[in-house]
Amino acid sequence: MQIYEKLEKCLKSVREKTDFVPKVALILGSGLGDYADGIEAVATIDYHDIEGFPVSTVAGHKGRFVFGHVEGVPVVIMQGRVHYYEGYPISDVILPTRLMGLLGAKTLFLTNAAGGLNPMFNAGDFMLIADQISSFFPSPLIGENIDELGPRFPDMTDLYSARLRDVIKSCARSLDIPLREGVYMQLTGPAYETPTEVRMYRQLGADAVGMSTACEAIAARHMGLSICGISCITNMGAGMSGRPLSHEEVKEAGDKAAPLFKKLVTASIAAIARA
Ligand code: HPA
Repeated sequence: MQIYEKLEKCLKSVREKTDFVPKVALILGSGLGDYADGIEAVATIDYHDIEGFPVSTVAGHKGRFVFGHVEGVPVVIMQGRVHYYEGYPISDVILPTRLMGLLGAKTLFLTNAAGGLNPMFNAGDFMLIADQISSFFPSPLIGENIDELGPRFPDMTDLYSARLRDVIKSCARSLDIPLREGVYMQLTGPAYETPTEVRMYRQLGADAVGMSTACEAIAARHMGLSICGISCITNMGAGMSGRPLSHEEVKEAGDKAAPLFKKLVTASIAAIARA
């Protein structure tokens, strides 16, 4: 099926279930998964119940949209995302992002778990995403341009809005939550990087690496959304800590950081809506 037709079909399927119009779209990374359980939900839709929708295969990743309010702000939350390494075409990986844009969201708030490459970082840190590198990842916009969504050659300057970054920084300051800032690099995974790759990516300008987010930011920017994102640094990059990496370690660190992360996300959403 053509990409846009599939998207329209998913939109119709969601609209048959709710007419909720979100202002902010929030994508939850590992560790933040249960954030949506704590909000005032108006409607929830399982990804399984949306015809043609890509469904995550990673253990521990829930798959549903939660519509509701965070501090009075209408939001749609993606509780669980699909990753390219699961085998979906890249157009499917970013379909949910596009769908949230078509539902009316004007701002995309991205969160993820990431490996820290900047030697000043520590596991447990939060990093405001200042910019990204997706040069080692297929562009989600390859193929015939979908003119209904955006232009063929979208600009990527100020991809992570400086205005939104200022808002989030000031939230973090008032909550007394230390916040780093840096460049996020998306790789395909699913293998973690080698220590040599970690050194290479660091030299290329990455402060954190992960397996999501950058493609979603590109798709959202294509549609003209404002974008912001925060990474939870769950571990230092391969070879930096002297210990091998494990998904369990990443999940544990994400869970541990979750309470503060949630606080920061909630305050940021409220402030973004006011800004
Ligand atoms: N590398 C890639 N993705 C990740 C990492 C990492 O070290 N940690 C969490 N997601």
